[in-house]
Order: sequence, then structure tokens, then C-alpha cells
Amino acid sequence: MQTSSKQNVLVLDFGSQTTQLIARRVREAQVYCEIHPFNISIQRIKAMAPKGIILSGGPSSVYDEDAPKIGTEIFDLGIPILGICYGMQLTSLLLGGQVERSDHREYGHARLIIDDTDEIFHGLLAGEPGHQVWMSHGDKVEKIPEGFIVLAHSASCPVAAMAHAEKSIFGVQFHPEVAHTEIGMDVIRNFLFRVCKCTPDWTMESFVSTTVEEIKRKVGNGRVICALSGGVDSTVTALLIHKAIGKNLVCVFVNNGLLRKNEPETVLAFLKQFDLNVVYVDAEERFLQKLKGVEDPEKKRKIIGNEFIEIFEEEASKTGHVDFLAQGTLYPDVIESVSFKGPSATIKSHHNVGGLPDVMKLDLIEPLRELFKDEVRRVAKELGMPYELINRHPFPGPGLAIRILGEVTHERLNILREADHIVLEEMKASDWYWKVWQSFAVLLPIKTVGVMGDERTYDHVVALRVVDSLDAMTADWSKLPYDLLGRISNRIINEVRGVNRVCYDISSKPPATIEWE
Ligand code: XMP
Repeated sequence: MQTSSKQNVLVLDFGSQTTQLIARRVREAQVYCEIHPFNISIQRIKAMAPKGIILSGGPSSVYDEDAPKIGTEIFDLGIPILGICYGMQLTSLLLGGQVERSDHREYGHARLIIDDTDEIFHGLLAGEPGHQVWMSHGDKVEKIPEGFIVLAHSASCPVAAMAHAEKSIFGVQFHPEVAHTEIGMDVIRNFLFRVCKCTPDWTMESFVSTTVEEIKRKVGNGRVICALSGGVDSTVTALLIHKAIGKNLVCVFVNNGLLRKNEPETVLAFLKQFDLNVVYVDAEERFLQKLKGVEDPEKKRKIIGNEFIEIFEEEASKTGHVDFLAQGTLYPDVIESVSFKGPSATIKSHHNVGGLPDVMKLDLIEPLRELFKDEVRRVAKELGMPYELINRHPFPGPGLAIRILGEVTHERLNILREADHIVLEEMKASDWYWKVWQSFAVLLPIKTVGVMGDERTYDHVVALRVVDSLDAMTADWSKLPYDLLGRISNRIINEVRGVNRVCYDISSKPPATIEWE
């Protein structure tokens, strides 16, 4: 998608954990924003003609040998700049100020006393008692560069914010992007609207209309094929393309037999109302045949991924000529930058409906490339998807196969489906479903002894996994009320034949992962 024509603010990433958060805050203010690595060339910056540039924080000291640095030309472009934390220290150092080196980091709340309410602190209270802000820094600015003034201080930080008196260059030592900084959005808005003179035109309504136009232009009379999983990303992708080209979009929905109870029916029923051109493939037996005797989690993932690609290709060749492959790639997967994906991103190989283009040799259409997940949900709402579907929990590509430890068989799938269905019913009935990140049942590869009536039983164990998380990179087990846990356990043991014990998984990630395989 073409992005250069619209008003844009750049965030240059110096490795901070909160770089994406900065971009999301800017977009919350309805200004489009892109993240780029700190070492992007000055020519590319000029070509993009951003309305403003934000230099992110980062873990380095400006004095580290391999500290990420930029040239000073950026300060001569006449484009407003806001340096956050490391971004401010670097600005100070590059423009001739002094940065005091520290061998320990200072984390936590601080009270910011504003000394000057022009520009970025416009409309905020100056002087005591100050404002609560979040700091996380080692080094700090000791002496501001020539031409700068101090805008704010805190008890431990004499220069907590600074500005060049004439050029629009600002620095803040605290993090305006995090929720703990109460005045954070005010500072960001002031920078965007007072300093950069942006207009708030990034709305999901405008996104839908411009994207539909772009798809029309790009595809013309061509045909597009799209793999639908029923998840929000692939569904929104399909709905956007359908809005643009109607029946020239062919959606393939593969039932791999590893879906939750009633899942294929629910998804198909939902899609029907939009009159999408959907090819439904019942491939349960094919997948189960391939998974016969396989116990290793990574092997299961590979088999499922490969089988999916094979089926998708077969269907594509049946539909006649196609020109484009649609994918629901999101912005966090696109950003080429220094930080983002921690090591956990590669611990398990993730086979989604992605991974197709190499094989298919088709041009790609990725209408969600610019969006964060929360924006996709807003587009989904705009397109008329119901709350239940938009906000449902993530479900892994390999489905129930990685929630059945050991071999995947019809019998085990049936047990897990029933148990999992009860988990979801009770979570929804108690409203806890909407408060947690994920909730599901896992079937363990062991049997234990129990007693039912006068009979001794020797049956399966189901583990219940419910976690809180913001982005799945870390997670904590949810503190569900005991009576809810009790109800789920009772119902599973009473209603699902073959299960006589339920355990609650109380491990956090790391060191555990959310899924069991
Ligand atoms: P883990 O288990 O790695 O999961 O803590 C993190 C998030 O990713 C989901 N997940 C997957 N999603 N294909 C997917 O599409 C996969 O192979 C896969 N494995 C894990 C998991 O449900 C959680 O939301």
C-alpha cells in the first residue's frame, strides 16, 4: 500500500521496549505514524516528508561503544523533533550539551515540575505539586546544548524536559507514551498539533474508504484468492477486498479437523451474510491421516503447515486464473527495526495461514500492513463484525493438535472439543472470557484413577489454561474465582465421558509458554 502521500510522523527506533507504544499513542491521536530503524538514511526521511520525528528511548548509554547514533543533519531538516529518554540524551550530546553517565538505571514514578508551559506543556499546570510521570533511565542531561531552555525538572533530574528556543526540537526524559505518565497524551498531542501542525485525519473510517479504493486500483479486473481462518485478521482482510472487488475474491476456508466445537459452522454462517465467495474444504481426514502416530509438537506443526499449503494450492488451481494472494499481515510483522521480537518469538515455529507466497508466486495484497491489532479490531467494527467475533481469543494455526499432548486421534479430539466447549461456555456466562487473554482446555497424555458412583475409573486428565497478557510475549495465569473453577471442573468431569480429573495450570510465561506444545 502506498503510504507516502499521507501525512506521516516518523518514530525512529533506538531499541526501546515502548517504541510500538509511541506509534500507537500517535495513532490514537488520529495521526498516521510509522516506525523506522534509527539508521534510516536522511534521503529516505526527506522523501517521506514527515510532519514530525520522534526519537525513541533505548537501552543503551550514549557513551556505549556500539550505541545507536544518528547524524546531526536530522536537526537541520526543519522538521520538528521530539526526543524521548535516550532520544533526548542523544539530541543533547549531538548538539553540544553534556550527558552525565550513570552506572545504574532509575525506574519508576517521579513528579515532574513544569517550568514552562509553552508548546509541549501547553495547557498543563506549572510548578508544584507537579505531575506524575514514568522514568526509566541511566544517563541524564547535565548541561543543555546552546540555544536550548529547560522546560521541566524533577527531584533527581534537573533537566527533565528541554526545547530549542527557536527550532522545534524537544526532549523529554520521562516516557509520555506509557499509561503511568498521566500527562503523556497531552504532551504527545501538543507535539503533534501545536508543534507539527498535524491534522487528525487517521480514522478507521477513512482507512476503509482509502484502502478499498487502493485495492480497486491495484486489482482492477483481476482475481484474488484468500485463505480464511475465521480469525479477525483474515476475516477483515477478506471483507475489505470483497468491498472493493466483490465476487472476484475467492476465499478458501480449510476445515483441518482441528478446530473448536461448532467453529466451522459459526464461521461459515457469519460469512454468509456478507455474500462472500467461499470455498469450504473439509479436510479433516487428510490432516488426521498425516498426523497418525505423530507425537512431537514441532513435527505436528510442520505437518499441519505443509498440508495446509498443499490443500490451498490445490484449491487455487481449481478456481482458475488468479492474480493476487491476500494476506492478513499486520504492522508489527512489517516493521524492520532493532528491538521488537524477543527471543520467545522463535521458540515455536508458528504456522499460520501465512507462509504461502513463496510457493504460490502470486502478487501479494496485504490491506492490513499498516495496522496495529487494536486498529484491525476497530476496522472490523466499522465493517459490521459483531463484538463476539472481533474480541474472541487468539486460536493457534495448528489448532487443537497442539492442545492434545501426544498423538491426535478422533477420540481425543472429541474429548478435548467437549471439555473446551464447557470452558468457553462457563467463561462467557461469567463474563470472565472478555477479561482474559486466552482460555482453553488441554488434554494430557496420561490417565489417572478416579471413582464414579461405585465404579473405579481410569480416565484422562484435562488441564485448564487461562492467562492474562497484553501481547502474548509474557503472560500470567488468571486468578479466576474458585467457584468458577469449581463449576468448570464439575461440568467437565460430569459431562465429558473419558475425563475424571481437571487441573488448573498456574504457570506464567516465561518460563512456561501459553500453549502446552
Ligand atoms: P506461546 O505458546 O508461544 O503462544 O506462549 C503465544 C501466542 O501464540 C499462539 N500460538 C500460535 N499461533 N500458530 C499460531 O497461529 C502457532 O503455531 C502458535 N503457537 C502458539 C498462542 O495461542 C498464544 O496466543
